Amino acid sequence: MTSNHKHTHAQWGSRLGFILAAVGSAVGLGNIWKFPYMLGKSGGSAFMFTYLACIVLIGLPILSAEWLIGRRGQRNPIDAMKTVAQQEGRSKAWAIIGASGTLGGYLILSFYSVIGGWSMNYIVKAGSGLFSGMTGEQTGAVFTSMLANPTGLLIWHTIFMAVTIFIVAAGVTGGLERGSKIMMPLLAAFLGVLVIYGANTGHFGEALSFLFKPDWGAINADVLLSALGHAFFTLSLGMGIMLAYGSYLGKEVNLLRSAAIVVILDTAIAVLAGLAIFPIVFANGLDTEAGPGLVFVTLPIAFGNMSGGTVLGLIFFLLLSFAALTSSISLLESSVEFLEERTRMNRVGSTLVAGIVVWLLGVASALSFNVWSDVKIMDLNIFDLLDVFTSKFTLPLSGFAIVVFMGWFMKQDSIRDELRLGGAFKIWQFIYRVIAPVGVIIVFVQQLIG
Ligand code: PFF
Repeated sequence: MTSNHKHTHAQWGSRLGFILAAVGSAVGLGNIWKFPYMLGKSGGSAFMFTYLACIVLIGLPILSAEWLIGRRGQRNPIDAMKTVAQQEGRSKAWAIIGASGTLGGYLILSFYSVIGGWSMNYIVKAGSGLFSGMTGEQTGAVFTSMLANPTGLLIWHTIFMAVTIFIVAAGVTGGLERGSKIMMPLLAAFLGVLVIYGANTGHFGEALSFLFKPDWGAINADVLLSALGHAFFTLSLGMGIMLAYGSYLGKEVNLLRSAAIVVILDTAIAVLAGLAIFPIVFANGLDTEAGPGLVFVTLPIAFGNMSGGTVLGLIFFLLLSFAALTSSISLLESSVEFLEERTRMNRVGSTLVAGIVVWLLGVASALSFNVWSDVKIMDLNIFDLLDVFTSKFTLPLSGFAIVVFMGWFMKQDSIRDELRLGGAFKIWQFIYRVIAPVGVIIVFVQQLIG
């Protein structure tokens, strides 16, 4: 992106820059840390298939809707929604979508930073050769003792947040995004190596059938809502981020083609992560339902037992931390953009204020793994509560409101021109008018009655 001054809204330097930023935001801990453990918790293939359906039928339309509205609005998410609503002769109250997105961004970044901290901590752990020759039980113990140490968790959360704040305040996010041109393919290559390792030494067949052998009976309301929520989380939807990215887009960019690229890359990385992790899970008799520790317990076994594993492990967690940073900067950036355009604070001031609020919230998440583990609201600790509230609630609802707005409250003729679909427009329109919103409603109602 070129310069981002207070009053002149910048545009992407190139289409590639835009795609890199969008992929950088989408690909992160969600793909490699969260997706595999949600697969494990929700019965493997049942989650896989509902997730893929949600990505195509709900994620893709909402991603393009956010870009389209952002491009029309040319402002931060809240003002963009307001501007477009007014242009269409609708109420300014639609700006609430932008506001709930910005709030969701703060909440997500707070716990995201704690996990980003784990990943950075693992760079050091892997690089020191700690995992050499370890069994699953031993890597499990390393993970558990990391969680039990509040000071350590807080230090790494602080480091992760400080790096995020520094990058956003210095306005060098573009550099990091360009870096992802090299780092993302490398990350994919590393996952490929781990898949090959799993295929040779792990229980690959068992993993394949866990992940892909249809088990329709296992699909229930909770699996549906988890898959839907994760589709939003992994594509960075419902948060205003993609709206903000759309606001830097030129008219010449083909929205649907770009959305398809982002969705395919994001999904490919997630599926590779699943294929890398589950052969190790089965080979070592680990619990598929291990939860948030899954990737941090399984991959160190692989690195600890392959030749050159110390260096490879170090590079892997470096790449994972990098992917986490390109996502966290997007989360912070959208909140900062609002403060910068709306208040007298400059970029550095806005970033510091937003960053410190998020850091403080993150402290509560970090402590919920140890000293505050008994602090529960609706039976969930603080970390789980933030995760559930955002993924299962604010993100799907904001996304729902966005497609409904585009499908039913905007003039369809101009959308037809913008989407450049020719005869296929009717089909696509049916998807964003009916399938995507009805899909979200069905999942919510199922959850309520289920
Ligand atoms: N999409 C990111 C991931 O999968 O790791 C996480 C994320 C980034 C969520 C930005 C939401 C967001 F706005």
